[in-house]
Amino acid sequence: MLDLADLPSCTKCALSEHRQRVVIGSGPERSSLMVLGEAPGRSEDEGGAPFIGRSGRLLFELIGNELGRRRDECFVTNVVKCRPPANRTPRPREIAMCRPWLDEQLRRCEPAVVLALGNTAAKSLFGFDEGISVTHGRVVQLGGAKGVATYHPAAALRGGPSVVEVMRGDLRIVRELLGAR
Ligand code: URA
Repeated sequence: MLDLADLPSCTKCALSEHRQRVVIGSGPERSSLMVLGEAPGRSEDEGGAPFIGRSGRLLFELIGNELGRRRDECFVTNVVKCRPPANRTPRPREIAMCRPWLDEQLRRCEPAVVLALGNTAAKSLFGFDEGISVTHGRVVQLGGAKGVATYHPAAALRGGPSVVEVMRGDLRIVRELLGAR
């Protein structure tokens, strides 16, 4: 079994060569809601925690509004734990190398719902072939958990109120799933 204590020294892929910090995750190890992003950005690489930049502020404002949850009540992590150079999309091999860490986090978290943010998270965890404009709001079974995908908050920062409204609708689906348990 993997020991998450070994994650800060992981060198399984080349992303480890460029990072300042491994961004493991934040929040309680066990939570009914796991929030899954793509990869750390600059702020996260410097600060060592996920979603502490601009997109994170929007994300947790929406989660607070729609789910009534604070950031510290969700387990938050990313598909890959090290920042890709220039914030490029993580490569399939990097995602695959990092997957056992995510699987171990899922095992410990035992979430009722996993909220995947954006295409990288939704495609890699839920196996979606289509893009997020088609797959957002879809509910999938993921072991004992339900999975729901929505837009990445960075897309909402670029796309404006219409994307935020779609995210709010997807979060209301998450709220129902959490309430129904
Ligand atoms: N974008 C992500 O996908 N994850 C973070 O932690 C920050 C920005």
